[in-house]
Amino acid sequence: MRIRIHLILSLFLAFTLVALTFAYFHVQEEKRALRADLEKRAQILAESLEETIAPLVQQRSEKNLQRILERFGNRERLKGVIVYDKKGSPLASTRGLDGQVTLSPAVVAQAIAQKLPRGEFRLFGQAYMHYYILPLYQENQAPGAIAVFHDANYIEAQSGRIWRDSILRVSLQTLLIALITLLIIRWSFEGTISKTAQWMRELRIGSAQEKPSLPDKDMFKPLTQEVTQFVKSLAAARAAAEEEARLREAAESLWTPERLRVHVQNKLKGSPLIVVSNREPYMHVRRGKSTEVVVPASGLVTALEPILRACDGTWIAHGGGDADREMADEKARLRVPPEDPHYTLRRIWITKEEEEGFYFGFSNEGLWPLCHIAHTRPIFRSGDWEHYQGVNQRFASAVLEEMAGFENPALLVQDYHFALLPRLVKDKRPDTRVAIFWHIPWPNPQAFGICPWQREILDGLLGADLVGFHIQAHCNNFLETVDQTLESRIDWERFAVNRRGHFTLVRPFPISVSVAEPSSEASAQRTSVYVERGSLFKEMGIRATFMGVGVDRVDYTKGIIERFRGIERFMEKYPSYQGQFTFVQVGAPSRTHIKRYHDLFGEVEAEADRINWRFQTAEWKPIAFLGRHHSHKEIELYYKAADLCMVTSLHDGMNLVAKEFVAVRDDEQGALILSRFTGAALELGDALVVNPYDTEQLAEAIRFALEMDPEDRRARMQRMRRIVKEHNVYRWAGNLLTELSEVRLDRSAPVKEG
Ligand code: G6P
Repeated sequence: MRIRIHLILSLFLAFTLVALTFAYFHVQEEKRALRADLEKRAQILAESLEETIAPLVQQRSEKNLQRILERFGNRERLKGVIVYDKKGSPLASTRGLDGQVTLSPAVVAQAIAQKLPRGEFRLFGQAYMHYYILPLYQENQAPGAIAVFHDANYIEAQSGRIWRDSILRVSLQTLLIALITLLIIRWSFEGTISKTAQWMRELRIGSAQEKPSLPDKDMFKPLTQEVTQFVKSLAAARAAAEEEARLREAAESLWTPERLRVHVQNKLKGSPLIVVSNREPYMHVRRGKSTEVVVPASGLVTALEPILRACDGTWIAHGGGDADREMADEKARLRVPPEDPHYTLRRIWITKEEEEGFYFGFSNEGLWPLCHIAHTRPIFRSGDWEHYQGVNQRFASAVLEEMAGFENPALLVQDYHFALLPRLVKDKRPDTRVAIFWHIPWPNPQAFGICPWQREILDGLLGADLVGFHIQAHCNNFLETVDQTLESRIDWERFAVNRRGHFTLVRPFPISVSVAEPSSEASAQRTSVYVERGSLFKEMGIRATFMGVGVDRVDYTKGIIERFRGIERFMEKYPSYQGQFTFVQVGAPSRTHIKRYHDLFGEVEAEADRINWRFQTAEWKPIAFLGRHHSHKEIELYYKAADLCMVTSLHDGMNLVAKEFVAVRDDEQGALILSRFTGAALELGDALVVNPYDTEQLAEAIRFALEMDPEDRRARMQRMRRIVKEHNVYRWAGNLLTELSEVRLDRSAPVKEG
């Protein structure tokens, strides 16, 4: 109600002000025109009398003068005419004027002396009038003057009328506009606002059934989006609180985003959390004229994103999207996720040449194959190594900039792109708690020994207080490598390295994913697996009964070709599945600038074609290769619809696809075929664990997964889900940060080794 009164009052004031301003100028204009008209009239009248009157004045023929003047007495608005002699004394005047108006002789005489006509508006007693004095001429003499008097009151009356009309019009207009505004508010806004308010009220008290249909028009869009977002956050917060309560009840201790947030606050005591990785969580890329946000295919991003969302902080990463610069501020920062900001992303710009040497070269042609035993030779070039050092230095400067002004900041460095960063930061800021997590395997010392800069890399890593790997075996390999390469002391009991007095703890932290509880809305909307599967197959133009799924970056470590051979063997061995089983391989192109990756993409396509050629029919094929980037949402559809998921990495630090598949299957269905060469195989013992090089075993695993007793399948999935839920990514981060926060910072000078 108050808002309506405010609105109407404001409208009223604004309209009145505008209308009165216009009325004021109108009145001024009208007055000016009327006055000009009157002045002109007086002049014409005086001049028309001049010729007749001048000789009579000369002769001082008062009688004749009087007679002539009487003839003009009745003109419109004319008050009267007076004829003066040259001293300014009246000789004759029209009758109506008698005694009412007089001009001082001096004024008249002055006009005569100056030989200039003169006019003026002024009050004569109560009467507002205009007079016009015209000096007369007769034979080069000025015998006197004639003065014409007009009534000017009507000009003021006219202005008054204009003011009155304007005020009347304003009042009417304002009334109309107020009425129309009220109606618009009522029809367009109040309905939506009260619907939204009602919906929010119901949500608050927990009785909301479903989202009302809110208008999607331009004006309401931001509100609708914000409210929808708010409702989602509220639902998530409520679910988290319920989950917490349920867990307290069950005396369990599951890690949730909320728990991690509080835990991190307690542990870091207000110090900022800074995360560094090469890959950024959100890339802005140009699609024609618009800009799209892409979440890159990266296990690291999948794992870290929920943590930053929960804890806030700054994530420093390479800005690799072609529209990244325009979406960040002048300090290359922006808040993300774009639709629901929770933390800061600081982008680092690197040149094409640096990217070539640092990312494609040293990181992905050198360290990546060095650490993965997958039969691709590492390539080490000194030019790449120089860029690797340069870019590590660049990121270190950005880290130091972000932590300036804070005491005891915590730094979480990610992966093999930044082996030198821990030392670079620690040397400059010894009060920083530095951890580096190595997301890929660490090979044995002999394998690692072929890296020409192994000493520098190890020294860089040992600048950290904590080095994390997925599994104990990688920790052991690392400690053995340090032992054989650098002067240091290994404490095998504490799993720590003492190098020149600085201790580095080496620990396994099996990374994971976050498991979302299915929302009631999502469960209600859920159709059956068969319907979902049917529509996915239909989109691909395939008719089949069973579906297998694989989701990978197209990388030679993922064993995609080995997987396809397993499927081929399965088709040979169990021909009854021909026409029945289709394996959908979602393959995101990755690092295709590197020849080995570029070729591999072609090899994967060719292998799928070769196998399809052998078995396919008009409506069916054994392998559907979807070689493009898919969003998490798109991938989820395949995870949910599949009978089985295959992860056949030849070597993998953890492999989060395996855990994602389990996390998504809240229907407790679906079987997981999992390579024994992944970190995940150590935790997910209920998967069908295989050797991807063993084609026969792969074929058998597929058959077993499809024909497994449904109860057995459900029990396996239930157990795997329990593990992934309990060992989720919040627990990973919680454990890592707990360990890091308990590190004793040694800021004294390095002690002598003994
Ligand atoms: C692995 C690495 C990550 C990397 C991801 C994707 O998971 O451990 O650091 O982000 O692959 O690779 P990309 O080179 O595209 O970032």
